[in-house]
Amino acid sequence: MVSFRLEVGSDRLAALTFDVPGAKVNVFSRPILEELEQVIPGLAAREDVGCLVLLSGKGANFVAGADVEEIAGVTDPDAAEAGSRIGHRIFAAWEALPFPTVAAIRGSCMGGGTEWALASTYRVVADRPEVRIGLPEVRLGILPGWGGCTRLPRRVGIAAALDMILAGKTVSGRRALKIGLADALLPDARFLDEVRDFALARRDRPRPEDARPDFKELLLERNPLGRKIVFDQARKKTLEATRGQYPAPLRAIEVVRVGVEQGARAGFDAEARAVADLATSRVAKNLIHVFRLTEEAKKANGLPGAPARPVRQLAVLGAGVMGGGIAQLAAHEAGVPIRLKDVDDRALASGMAHAGQLFERLARRHRVTKPEVRRQMALLLPTLSYAGFERTDLVIEAIVEKLAVKQEVFAEVARHLRPDAVLASNTSSLSIAAIGEKTPHRERVVGMHFFNPVNRMPLVEVIAPAGCEPAAVNTVFAFARRLGKTPVLVKDTPGFLVNRLLMFYSIEALWLLDAGHRMEDLDRAMTDWGMPLGPMALTDEVGLDVAVKVAHILAAAFGDRLPLPGWIDRLSGEGRLGTKTGSGFYRYDGRERQDPDPAVYEILGIEPRIEHPDPGQIADRMVLPMVNEAARCLEEQVVGSAAELDLAMILGTGFPPFRGGLCRWADQQGLDEIVATLERLESAVGDRFRPSDALRARAAAGGFYPR
Ligand code: NAI
Repeated sequence: MVSFRLEVGSDRLAALTFDVPGAKVNVFSRPILEELEQVIPGLAAREDVGCLVLLSGKGANFVAGADVEEIAGVTDPDAAEAGSRIGHRIFAAWEALPFPTVAAIRGSCMGGGTEWALASTYRVVADRPEVRIGLPEVRLGILPGWGGCTRLPRRVGIAAALDMILAGKTVSGRRALKIGLADALLPDARFLDEVRDFALARRDRPRPEDARPDFKELLLERNPLGRKIVFDQARKKTLEATRGQYPAPLRAIEVVRVGVEQGARAGFDAEARAVADLATSRVAKNLIHVFRLTEEAKKANGLPGAPARPVRQLAVLGAGVMGGGIAQLAAHEAGVPIRLKDVDDRALASGMAHAGQLFERLARRHRVTKPEVRRQMALLLPTLSYAGFERTDLVIEAIVEKLAVKQEVFAEVARHLRPDAVLASNTSSLSIAAIGEKTPHRERVVGMHFFNPVNRMPLVEVIAPAGCEPAAVNTVFAFARRLGKTPVLVKDTPGFLVNRLLMFYSIEALWLLDAGHRMEDLDRAMTDWGMPLGPMALTDEVGLDVAVKVAHILAAAFGDRLPLPGWIDRLSGEGRLGTKTGSGFYRYDGRERQDPDPAVYEILGIEPRIEHPDPGQIADRMVLPMVNEAARCLEEQVVGSAAELDLAMILGTGFPPFRGGLCRWADQQGLDEIVATLERLESAVGDRFRPSDALRARAAAGGFYPR
């Protein structure tokens, strides 16, 4: 045994410790599965074992799941099916051991690890925040295929099982106990002793009947009509959430149903057949690609050669929408004292109230305890002055989007800082170099561009202007990560990366509107394509005033490539600023989007006249300009690689993960094909579609991703 260590005591208690040598976490690769398969018969033959405890040698990790690289590599459905059946065979042998088994979980337990635990007689968990138990397979486009779809509903009931499987959600130890996934929640400080007592009490005892979910659930789930309601509701909810673009959760509902209605053996068969189809599908390959991009991004550190400096005290300038959110996030994630400065005490009060609401929401969801909230809230020091700024290591500026004002404020704040403090701007459209022009140490002025809403959007663009100090950039990079964000390094060019690409999408939507399309048709075409928001709804969220302002800045920078409709300035008149004023392209009831507002056509002097739009053509017109511009961004080294570009678009705009990212999607269409479509659009619609030389070069080289 290499990865499994067995100790058997004179008290007939055995401990099997899973500990893959030299690895940070336990992953079930093929060789390790084979090893486990060889271990089990030896265990079964032992007469000196009355109960066996399964432990992990990896501290805060129980098992991380199956080896993603192996799933990524499988192209033959038969091989994928065989991979599922191996798991079934091994866990069936585990389940049939002649003594009770106890999976003792003290950390994260994912996928195959959870399936192993489910095949054990009991599961006990430590009462500590590191415990997360889940079956996240659908996030990779597959489903729990080593018995998870079949065994979980038997433990926790159909509804709770679907809840975990369909969203790939993880549950805490407490929740695991509540739903019946865990049999005991044990104090962490005495975990091993308590596990031992638990096992001793069950030593040499017959196995219990399967744990049953509560009575109310049973009434619903045991009768065919009740079951049908549960499955129908799950299907409806899943279709709404995935718009039919993600096959795995729908298939999982079917597999769970077979397992419940036709028995475990049929359930395992259904799992294996589903894995054969799903693991070899394009959607799964794309989702695995995105998973790898995310893992890869965790290794990035910014610019080479200079370590990040520690941030022990922070200041945030501007207590508005962004500043309030950033300050709250820093208090919650980094736990450092934060001076939140504004020039207006009402703004300060509303920024603090905004932070308070965000904390309340976290507390309601049990992400943080009430005393913790009070402690973290106390880290926020609202102020109208620069008192104490000499102690701050990093300043994040989020004040009005006006260059002259930002320049003045940067020069002013610098007078109150240590010379080595780092100054970061959250500007979405101004040049970082220009913002720092009047600041003595402009080499320490960098960009730290968050996305709205700060607490939910996982991307931060870290902008390194020419001549900046690498340590300053890396300080911001590391701090973004400390806030739980994914930082991506980008160049100081107009719109940086994400807003630049997105602007080509949003402006093309305006041209389609100009050509007679209806607002709702444009939005529906893009949400059906997989974008979380259509272009009209997105512009309403951004704010029509902000969008128009940024459009002008980028149009000035990109000239003929980004012409604007003549009526664009009429968009944001009369308080029609989008979601924030309750009217934009759509009408709003509070923040709830209602119908599109026909007054918009009148204001702009256009007439919606296209009755049967072609959603494919609409999508081409909005997405292909982004592809064209992405090639330019890579050529200009706005971002380091197609992989980083794809990740930034997914995390910053919600670009559909099942498409694998903008560049990967383009590669899958074929760049030659895309160039040809752009050429057609160039002659039919306008010069702005002309394929860039950069795109032609990528096409000639065989794609964005080197093969
Ligand atoms: P906002 O208008 O909500 O807040 C700006 C705040 O700055 C106000 O409270 C104002 O009183 C304060 N302020 C003005 N001058 C100041 C000064 N000299 N010192 C301290 N505070 C001052 O604006 P928002 O939306 O939060 O935007 C702030 C910055 O973040 C802008 O640069 C914007 O481009 C950028 N940004 C905005 C995003 C958005 O979706 N709203 C997204 C990403 C970046």
